[in-house]
Amino acid sequence: MERPIAYDKLAREDRFVRMRARETSELRMAQGLPPMADLASRESIRERMHGIFVGELQAMEGAGRTVYDFPDAPWEFTMDMARQVWDESRHVEIYMDLLEHMGGHIGEFPESTILWRCACAEDAAARVAGVNRGLEGLACDVFNQLIHIARKIGDPIIEQAVDYVLADEITHVRMGSRWLNELTKGDPHRRRQAIEFQDTIDERFNLGGVRQDGAHDEVSISIAREARKLAGFTDEEIERLVKSTQRSPVY
Ligand SMILES: [Fe+2]
Ligand SMILES: [Fe+2]
Repeated sequence: MERPIAYDKLAREDRFVRMRARETSELRMAQGLPPMADLASRESIRERMHGIFVGELQAMEGAGRTVYDFPDAPWEFTMDMARQVWDESRHVEIYMDLLEHMGGHIGEFPESTILWRCACAEDAAARVAGVNRGLEGLACDVFNQLIHIARKIGDPIIEQAVDYVLADEITHVRMGSRWLNELTKGDPHRRRQAIEFQDTIDERFNLGGVRQDGAHDEVSISIAREARKLAGFTDEEIERLVKSTQRSPVY
């Protein structure tokens, strides 16, 4: 069966603005801003929240696509992905409300399709490794940090809303670990390829040194060791990620 891979065909209302991530970073740097919004001010938190909002939208679309793309996968796999669509749709609503809470609106900042493109791997095992372990692992880092920053600036609405979303993301990572193992049982070559795909995603989302092992209010994205452990990452995997961030060139 032919399956359309429509990288650029995501349905959006006119108020959304599409731009390549590289172009957005270049424009930011030309204005003397860091390549990506940090969490140092309410304004930059609002921008980061907009990025998370479109990320949740694409996570919902990606999980929906996975339900559709692999009709021969085990039923429990399809059920988990369908459940994830539902979770991500709630996250979209939560971040829409948080954006409003911050005085922002949809379309205030550009949307890139970088997350969606990662959700288009041809193999189901690579997709759950890359999306559920790579990208949802990144979500654990970002949300955990946001919770700490919200606590620090005294905003219980952000703190509690994001804590609720983080709990879901932890279950999504766990789903990814389960299905990476089950789908590649007895097929070490497929497993290795899936893990290599996850490594390329982890590397890309180290964002040239933006993600680091550091204090929540000192680095742009801090690695959430405890949340990652809850999500089922081993100590060895966490150390490997920390090492890979040290290899990434700084912008
Ligand atoms: Fe989410
Ligand atoms: Fe998720």
